[in-house]
Amino acid sequence: MSAIRCIGICTGGGDAPGLNAVIRAVVKCAFLKYRWKVIGIPDGFDGLIWPEKSYELTLKSVSGILPRGGTILGTTNRGNPFRYCIVEDGEEIIRDISDEVIANAGKLGIDAVISIGGDGSQKIALELFHKGMQIVGVPKTIDNDLSATEVTFGFDTAVNTATDAVDKIHTTGEAHHRIMVVEVMGRDAGWIAIQAGIAGAAHVILIPEIPFTIESVCKFVRAREGYGKHFTIVVVAEGVKLPPELKDNRRAGTVGNLIGNAIAVCANKEVRVSVLGHIQRGGTPTPFDRILATRFGVAAVDLVAQGGFGKMVCLHCGRIDAVDIDQAIGRIKTVDPNGQFVQTARAIGVSFGD
Ligand code: F6P
Repeated sequence: MSAIRCIGICTGGGDAPGLNAVIRAVVKCAFLKYRWKVIGIPDGFDGLIWPEKSYELTLKSVSGILPRGGTILGTTNRGNPFRYCIVEDGEEIIRDISDEVIANAGKLGIDAVISIGGDGSQKIALELFHKGMQIVGVPKTIDNDLSATEVTFGFDTAVNTATDAVDKIHTTGEAHHRIMVVEVMGRDAGWIAIQAGIAGAAHVILIPEIPFTIESVCKFVRAREGYGKHFTIVVVAEGVKLPPELKDNRRAGTVGNLIGNAIAVCANKEVRVSVLGHIQRGGTPTPFDRILATRFGVAAVDLVAQGGFGKMVCLHCGRIDAVDIDQAIGRIKTVDPNGQFVQTARAIGVSFGD
């Protein structure tokens, strides 16, 4: 193992509350515990295409960033140095610029890189590791769908934001006797939907893991009407699998709007739809996310010190651990349709539209 003097850090993929907390922890731990220099690489691995844009991160640069959403380094969910899209003579071509990226890291004096990102960024990290870059991963996604870690930072904040929205929508829905559809994030998994749905006392929760029908949702709405409940809160994950009759319309709007319109027709009731969108990715991280992000940042620096390259830090049984990146990627963690979350919700009368 070569002696480390300088590490690079980058954030890739969609942002998540807690990214700045990881950056701060990395810079502080690297400097205070190991006396290493830290270079901030802007906009994911794209930053290594133009090394002059990278800059040293000092204790001063990370002062005050702990409670801030976003990432001071910037991010992108497009750039991939192995399949980089460039325009030549007006034509888009895909080039492998990974050699340049690795060479530029060397020019900056970077001995190892800490890559904070979701599944896509970790795949790139693994490919760079296979080409010789000393790299350590930190998992990130508000969707909480990475199988190698119990939880990712940003998820708790997103659930808080979504729950707050469902609470607010609850009172107006009840006042107007309406069906309120709230679309939350979760491209492949229903973690935000089920947790914000339970926490926000939703009556219907629609998630990608459980097929649903509009008729079943309407039957449930009618049953509520029958016992005097004239409003219904429906929380929908954006990645929900649409029933066949709605699939043809997929391009006509968000899933929340499609489902809301279909319920309005079927239940013959007024429906309002709120698509929470990127609100869930912003804001100040919760204490839980700040702490998890700080633990991940410190663990990533320690992993570099131990030569644990090609690994990603993770949370396992409440303790920080590390897994090989190749074991961590490409395996999505979904909500178990028969698991405790679903069982708990069903036990208190929540419908999954099935
Ligand atoms: O993967 C996290 C996520 O927040 C998804 O839930 C969502 O579909 C996606 O990012 C949105 O990405 P973008 O910022 O590119 O619209």
